[in-house]
Amino acid sequence: MQTHSSLYWKKYFTRNASVKRIDWQLEPQLTKFEKGKIIKSLQAWQLGETSEGEHLLQAAKKYALKTNDNEYPEAVKLFIKEEQKHGNNLGKYLDLIDEPRITKDWGDTMFRKIRYYNTNMELWTIAVITVESAAQIFYQALKDASNCTLLKQICTDILIDEAAHITFQKERLYIIFSGKNSISKFIAYHAYTCFFICTSLVIWFAHQKLFKAGRLNFFKYFQKMMRKLNKVAGTAILYHTENKTSSVYDSSEIVQSI
Ligand SMILES: [Fe+2]
Ligand SMILES: [Fe+2]
Repeated sequence: MQTHSSLYWKKYFTRNASVKRIDWQLEPQLTKFEKGKIIKSLQAWQLGETSEGEHLLQAAKKYALKTNDNEYPEAVKLFIKEEQKHGNNLGKYLDLIDEPRITKDWGDTMFRKIRYYNTNMELWTIAVITVESAAQIFYQALKDASNCTLLKQICTDILIDEAAHITFQKERLYIIFSGKNSISKFIAYHAYTCFFICTSLVIWFAHQKLFKAGRLNFFKYFQKMMRKLNKVAGTAILYHTENKTSSVYDSSEIVQSI
């Protein structure tokens, strides 16, 4: 599998941060009916995207020391910044439609607790991959659930970012997985699958109203999640033996992988 160096990712995130895809001059056009279906989930994901990322950064620093990948924490820092941009943009939208930014949500509390006790890069990586895979489906559903151009632009911007986030995390998971012996690989592969499926179910039950508003039923959602699981942590990906690492930054390459 082709992987990219941390320096490559630093350059990618730095460049992506300078691209503006949202026209904030637009007025929100959310109807009362649309708002009723999406607001709770929108508030919950806004909160989820605002994490400081301290624990992830600690895990990345510990991992970088062990693997001599000095640039990795910097790449993770820029990745966290991009997530915070999502939180800020969703928050700005909530302000514009006169809805509060919430400070507590049971799903967010649960994930924050898991994050708090986790200092292991592998666990972080599979957790982030799972949430980002669901995020792609979530933001597409949010985009399809209203006719508000501003909200659609915010979702498109997040969807573009999330595609690269998944590639970034998928490469790390592959690198970590490749360093294991065959028994550990067998256990890890099944643990990833189990975690991914269980978390997918929790996310469906927490946000089914929004998913349905975006014209998704449970089977379509689950099918999409399984397809994503195969693409990020399926056997064909994880057990791929040829690893080429590229450190040359070529923006067309990342666009292709998106
Ligand atoms: Fe995000
Ligand atoms: Fe993300």
